[in-house]
This record gives sequence, structure tokens and C-alpha cells, in this order.
Amino acid sequence: MAGDALDGRQGGITKKGQVLAVLGSPRRGGNTDTLAAEFLRGAAAEGFEPAYIIPTDLGISACDGMNQCFETGRCVILDGMNEIYEKVLGASHVLVATPVYFMGPPGSLKSFIDRFQAVWARFEILDQPRPDAARRKGFAIVAGAAPEEGKMYRPTVSIIKAFLSVTGFTYAGEIIATGLDEKGQAERKSDLLARAFEAGKLFVSG
Ligand SMILES: Cc1cc2nc3c(=O)[nH]c(=O)nc-3n(C[C@H](O)[C@H](O)[C@H](O)COP(=O)(O)O)c2cc1C
Repeated sequence: MAGDALDGRQGGITKKGQVLAVLGSPRRGGNTDTLAAEFLRGAAAEGFEPAYIIPTDLGISACDGMNQCFETGRCVILDGMNEIYEKVLGASHVLVATPVYFMGPPGSLKSFIDRFQAVWARFEILDQPRPDAARRKGFAIVAGAAPEEGKMYRPTVSIIKAFLSVTGFTYAGEIIATGLDEKGQAERKSDLLARAFEAGKLFVSG
């Protein structure tokens, strides 16, 4: 079909795929946005276009824990999350980029992740077919002010891993960006930017 032939083309360049980026910071243009942009630039160099989900802009509610999703695999809170489940489940590559807040992700990202309980229910309770994790990859970028990698960053990484596992992605790696606090700091770290760019390339090509 003509429409299909046009799909995946931008500016005459055939796109090979898409990286869906979940940007967890409420601070637009901050350190994690900068690193995510470099990562996505690396992926774009290999022909993968970016798509974005920004939890803080979605205005979604927190999970109410009523477990009504156990009956249907859908959330009864009708604020757009049911559509987002399909977007995430339809993706082949997902990046989650987030700052550390009190050793975890910001509340808006944590609420977003908690709302995937409905997706967990599809696979663990309702026995619906799972996506093929062998063909789907996830990556984490986690930034914080603390100077050392280690226990400050571990809870956030574990939460992202849990999210990627429930949604059927193989964890392909992470960048822990330490010692970043004020806005603009990541932009001045050329080594870190280069690492993010290379990681993005490898993520879609390796
Ligand atoms: C509410 C709040 C809590 C934070 N808690 C931590 C923390 O527990 N550990 C840490 O290393 N940095 C912490 N930070 C610092 C941020 O992780 C850091 O400024 C990061 O670079 C922000 O990324 P962004 O520019 O992408 O928003 C906190 C910042 C805020 C605003």
C-alpha cells in the first residue's frame, strides 16, 4: 500500500525503527533530557527515529490499588494510560531516562510505572500472550547528584528493570551519570555525552 511505503520515511531517509523514550524528569532540558537526547542522536545515526512519553506531562493519576485490572488487563482510570500500554507494548526499543529523587524515580515516573500493573495482570493473571522479549530491548539512563555509583542509584535502576521486565523488554544496559545536579551540567561533560551517543548507536545496532 502507498501509505505503508511512506511509513518510516522522514526527509527521504528510510527509518529502520523507533526508540520510545520515557523521559522521567519534571525539569525539561535538564541533565537526563540532555543525555537522552545524545542517546537518541546515536540511535538516529543508525536510522532509528525517536518517540517520546513524558509522564510528568500526562496528568495521570496514581494507581489506586483496587486491582480491577485483574479482571480485564485494562485500567479503570480513564486518563489515557490504556492507550499508552499499547504504545509501550508495541515498541521494539525503549529508553527510560530519569533523575534520582530521594533514591528513587520522581513521583510522576513512579506513578506511570505503577499503572503498568494492568499489563502485569494481563501476563501473570490473565495468561495473555507475552511479547517476545528476545526481540525487544530496554535501556536506562539514571542521573543524580551523588558522586559515587552504588547504593544511591540501585533502587531506581531496579524499578526501571522491573518496569522493562513486566512490559517484555530485555535489559540491554544503563548509564549511571553521577555528580550531576544543576541544570546544564551534563551539557559540559563531553565524555559523558559521547558515552550516551555511542550507547544509543549500539542499542539499536548491536
Ligand atoms: C526532589 C529531589 C530529590 C533529589 N534526590 C536525590 C537523591 O536522593 N540522590 C541524588 O543523588 N540526587 C538527588 N537529587 C538531585 C537530582 O537527581 C539531580 O539534580 C539530577 O541531575 C536532576 O536531573 P534532571 O536535570 O534531569 O532533572 C534530587 C533532586 C530533587 C529535585
